[in-house]
Amino acid sequence: MERTRWYKDSVFYQIWPRSFKDGNGDGMGDLLGVYEKLDYIKSLGVDGIWFSPLYPSPGVDCGYDISDYMDIAQEFGGMEAFKKVLDGAHERGIRVIMDLVVNHTSDEHEWFQKSRQRIDPYTDYYIWRPAKPDGSLPNNWDSMFEGKAWQWDEARGEYYLHLFAIRQPDLNMDNPLVREEVKKILKFWLDLGVDGFREDVITFISKKEGLPDDHLYPASKGIRFYNHGPHIHEYLQEFRRDVLSKYDCMTLAEAPLVSPEMALSYISEEDPGPNGSDIDMMIQFQCMTGDCFLTDYMPLKFSLRRLKKAFTSWQEGLLGKAWNMLYLENHDHPRVVSRYGSEKFRKESAKMLAAMYLFQQGTPFIYQGQEIGMTNWYPKTIGQYEDVQTLNQKTWLPDGLRLKLYHRASRDSARTPMQWSAGEYAGFSTAEPWFSINENYKEVNVEEAEADPDSVLNFYRRAIRLRRKLKIVKDGSFKEYDHSSGKFYTYERSDGQHRLLVICSFSEKEELYKLPSGFDFSKGRLILCNYKKVSRKADRFTAHPYEVRVYLF
Ligand code: NOJ
Repeated sequence: MERTRWYKDSVFYQIWPRSFKDGNGDGMGDLLGVYEKLDYIKSLGVDGIWFSPLYPSPGVDCGYDISDYMDIAQEFGGMEAFKKVLDGAHERGIRVIMDLVVNHTSDEHEWFQKSRQRIDPYTDYYIWRPAKPDGSLPNNWDSMFEGKAWQWDEARGEYYLHLFAIRQPDLNMDNPLVREEVKKILKFWLDLGVDGFREDVITFISKKEGLPDDHLYPASKGIRFYNHGPHIHEYLQEFRRDVLSKYDCMTLAEAPLVSPEMALSYISEEDPGPNGSDIDMMIQFQCMTGDCFLTDYMPLKFSLRRLKKAFTSWQEGLLGKAWNMLYLENHDHPRVVSRYGSEKFRKESAKMLAAMYLFQQGTPFIYQGQEIGMTNWYPKTIGQYEDVQTLNQKTWLPDGLRLKLYHRASRDSARTPMQWSAGEYAGFSTAEPWFSINENYKEVNVEEAEADPDSVLNFYRRAIRLRRKLKIVKDGSFKEYDHSSGKFYTYERSDGQHRLLVICSFSEKEELYKLPSGFDFSKGRLILCNYKKVSRKADRFTAHPYEVRVYLF
């Protein structure tokens, strides 16, 4: 099948189903709710939806613990509702990608239930090991979510590996039967009409032979033995060869700790593997470390230089060789306005951040609520948090400090229900929602944003429209200016004829900005800005707090 790489012209919207819209009045988001909002999604100018998991699941990790890969959970409306949404999306020219979570399953998956009883062919579907001769765990690896990465199973009389929650056992991808299962899943959804997959921690699926102890890493012990493991390219090539290459689909790999150079070994279009590139795009994490070290739970002061370096290095590193996936938010991180922008200048900074990434090269993803500038959630007690990852972080801290850390770092901030109106339950549901609503819903909601031509929402719409109109955004080269500035991020996109200049202030104060040499305002057209009154001389202006200007020269 010829690959059209349609995703290069797309803008995606990510839906985290539990909190998007409740359609049946039970307090939980569902597909009926999504169906109601398809026109809203379309109105943003997006033409793709990524669904976080919709499959049956006990919900230990909000659906990332799957108990049946070939069905849709009843609480979301079941398969019938999904097909309706899929058709409704396609009718509107919106493609749909699913979350493929095959590093691990739920412990309630039939495969695991049979594996623990050594029922073939499932006996070796998971990574089982006896204790070491001295009685200790099979190795010293850490789980990302809950203590050590091994759990004793009474029924089997062995430990199983779980890189995430205890109830998320890791699949044994070295077993060809497991890879056949993955291919069946891919084929099932592609035949049903979905357009591709976001592949959950897919770079973790191949573990180093012998599962050696990690004596080097102080935290996340073991990660160097399973991230980008020995057979990763081989397995991804196999999925490409046997299934993906037969469809004009897109794949997007979640890839912790990946640099642009490493990414090319997966996504290079110049030098793909024998069956085509392993993957089409990668979700890198560097753009999430503007205010932390490696993870949100190791906070640092926000550094614009670090953030710029992250974005710029991916722009430069992939240009002409591979394709970027662009994002500022998803269901795994706190809200971007509260991180890289300012709650005080909520609207201004949300718009600036939107323009900052929407004019770079790649396929942008917008996470539900980002388009109205939703902010972090600040509950009063730890007990109000739901997320398994959050609740296992730094449990040794005294409660006050722990709460402060969670306010800043928890991904639950991205999981509060979508704020549709100032009405009851923020218009999300007619019943008490499954999860707390951010207290600011009376000011921050879709209804309010629809009524205000200068809202964050309408700014997103304008920016997306412009992005689609200007070919330079898709194909132009990339050059950063004012590299060492701690206040401005300025970059140029150029096609040889025209130049697009994006100037973003990350300052809460007014700041003097001088145009890079070779530019003259009198020759450029201001095509997007987040303030009404803009001042300028031929080569300089005083930027308002979080001002963004996009010029076409
Ligand atoms: C990454 C997903 O995005 C996250 O939500 C999940 O908890 C882990 N992988 C485990 O599946």
